[in-house]
Amino acid sequence: MKHLRLAVLLSGSGRTLENLFTEIQAGSLDAEVVVVGGSRADAYGLERARNHGVPTFVVESRAFKNNAAGFSRAIFEQLGRYEYDLLLLAGFMCLITIPPELEGRAMNIHPALIPSFCGKGYYGHYVHEAVLRYGCKVSGCTVHFVDNVYDHGPIIVQKAVAVEDVDTADSLAARVFEKELEAYPEAVRLFGEGRLRIEGRRVKVLGQP
Ligand code: GAR
Repeated sequence: MKHLRLAVLLSGSGRTLENLFTEIQAGSLDAEVVVVGGSRADAYGLERARNHGVPTFVVESRAFKNNAAGFSRAIFEQLGRYEYDLLLLAGFMCLITIPPELEGRAMNIHPALIPSFCGKGYYGHYVHEAVLRYGCKVSGCTVHFVDNVYDHGPIIVQKAVAVEDVDTADSLAARVFEKELEAYPEAVRLFGEGRLRIEGRRVKVLGQP
């Protein structure tokens, strides 16, 4: 496995980022986080990054209302100061336009089984509320490569959980998050092992029995 230099973007509490640190420290992910960017200065994930001695930057999405292109430019201007192999969106609640050189080198995790309950407005607890409202019996999480449409690029890993009659949005979110903790490192490991081949919308995992 290649040692990976990771750049991470987030908007919230940063449990997804913390899980990467945990995996790295446990030796189950041969990687380092070289920079963490936030879309709001009060995102707790930025503090987690600083606690691990990782440099951070902030591009306030609020300052770019109706200017998605300007927001993306500002993000990639900051990221451009670092060298990284893979960009990970980790609870990053904004649409960004991936530059061509990052195609196949940027991933996102979404707390539903894409293409259900994804796209604009579907994030965090809104996803789980919608799953319960619809009456789904199964939900889960998806790690996918990022393209320039919300929650849309080729799918790398999906993990499912059963929806129980007694579930609330919080209990379902917690069970899905347990799967997220496995799915994201798994996808990153496969990338580091050079085992992901994108063929159109399909991602082939090389070396699978
Ligand atoms: C995670 O559940 C992630 O899947 C979700 O936000 C949460 C971030 O938690 N992402 C989305 O909804 C993206 N559409 P965290 O800030 O504690 O890592």
